[in-house]
Amino acid sequence: MSTKLFRNARIHTPHDNGSPLSGISQGDISIYEQGILLCRDGIIKHIGDERDLLKSADFKQVDIEIDCEGHCLIPGFVDPHTHMCFAKTREKEFVQRLRGTPYLEILKQGGGILSSVNAVRKISEDELYEITLNNVMSAMRFGTTTLEIKSGYGLNTETELKMLRVIDKVNKNIPVDIVATFLGAHAIDSAFNVDPERFVTMIVEEMIPAVAEQGIAKFCDVFCEKGVFSVEQSRRILKAAKDSGMKLKMHADEVYDLGGGALAAELKATSADHLLTSNDESIKAMVDAGVIATLLPATCYSLKKTYARAREMVIAGLPIALATDCNPGSSYTESMPFVFGLAVMNMRLMPEEALTAATLNAAYAINMADKAGSLDIGKQADFLLLQGESPAVLAYHAGVSPVTAIYKKGEIIWNLKT
Ligand code: NIG
Ligand code: FE
Repeated sequence: MSTKLFRNARIHTPHDNGSPLSGISQGDISIYEQGILLCRDGIIKHIGDERDLLKSADFKQVDIEIDCEGHCLIPGFVDPHTHMCFAKTREKEFVQRLRGTPYLEILKQGGGILSSVNAVRKISEDELYEITLNNVMSAMRFGTTTLEIKSGYGLNTETELKMLRVIDKVNKNIPVDIVATFLGAHAIDSAFNVDPERFVTMIVEEMIPAVAEQGIAKFCDVFCEKGVFSVEQSRRILKAAKDSGMKLKMHADEVYDLGGGALAAELKATSADHLLTSNDESIKAMVDAGVIATLLPATCYSLKKTYARAREMVIAGLPIALATDCNPGSSYTESMPFVFGLAVMNMRLMPEEALTAATLNAAYAINMADKAGSLDIGKQADFLLLQGESPAVLAYHAGVSPVTAIYKKGEIIWNLKT
C-alpha cells in the first residue's frame, strides 16, 4: 500500500456524473488553484483544494509527497479513435494529395488503405508488434494514457486476427490502457471488387464469429462511405457484430453525407466518428439516441477538408469527443495536444470544452469512463502536468507539447527531465 500526495498543482478536470458531458455542460470544468490529489495504490482517494482537504484523516498516512511546482494538472488524454497498428507510412501518397489527387481516388486506384493492407499482410507479427509499440510510446509522450486501436488493414480473417493479437500484446506490455476495435469493413478487399456483397457476407459469416471467439475486440467499426460500404451494408455488418456482443462505432459522414450518422443513431452506436458532412436531422437523431460525436480535426487538416460543425453540435446537445485518427493515410499524428489546438482554433471549441472532449467524453466513447477520463474518487490516477497555467496552453503554445510529466495509476511513466 502506497499513498501519494500531489500538491501545489493547478488542477483542471471535468467531473463524471455518470454520462458524457454535452451542451452547456460540455465545458463544465472544476478548477482547484491550490490543488491536491491523493492516491492510494494508483486509485484517486481525494481531490480538491489544499486548505479544505488537509484536515482529512487520509493525509496522516501519506508515504510520498510530490510538489507539482504550480504546474497545471489535468487528466491523461484519452484518444478514442486510432489506426496505430500499421506496417508502413505513406508519405508519397501525402504528396500526391498535395498535388490534387483526392483521398478516395487514391483508394479507388488500389492505394490508400489498400496499400496499408498489402504491407500488413506481408509483415511478421513480431515486426508489426514493434511498430505498433513505438507508435503507442510516441502517443504516450504526448500525454495519451488510454487509447483505442482499430484493426482494418487485414481485410481477411487471418490478418485481422493477427492485428488484434498485436494490439492485445502491446496493451499487456505498456502502461497505457488500450481498447481494441475490429474494423474488417475498412475497405473492400480488391479480390472482391466484382462482388462486394460477397465480401460483406464474409465479414458477417466468417470474420465476426472468429473475432468474437478470439475475444480481444470490444467494438466493431465500419467505414460507411461512397464507394466503400453503403448504409445497407454497414447496417448488416454492425447488426451482426452487436448480436455477437461487440459495441458499435462508425466512420460516418466523412466525405459524403450518406446518412451514416443517422444509422449510428438507429443502431444506438456508442460513437459516430468524423461527421464532417452530417446534416441537422442526423445530428438530432444522434442526440436523441445518446451517440457520442468523436471529431477528428487532424484528418481535416491533413485532407484539407472543412472542419466538423462542432459549435452547432454542442448547441444541439451532442457530446463531443476528440481523437487523433492516427493512421498512415488521412491523419498521421499521435499528438493529442495538436488535436486540442486544432479543435480550439479551427472548430471553435473553448479550451474547457476541448478538455472534456479529450478526456471524459473520449473515455465514454470507448467504454473506459469507469477507470479513466476524469480525476474523480475511485478512478485511476492517470494525469499530466503541463507547463502552463491552464489547459488553454495546449492551443496557445502552438506546435509543441506542453506536457512535462505523465502519471499512470499514480506512477510516473514519462518525465521531460529524464
Ligand atoms: O479514419 N476513413 C477511413 N479510415 C481512416 C483512414 C485510414 C487510412 O487512410 O489508412 C480514417 O480517416
Ligand atoms: Fe479512422
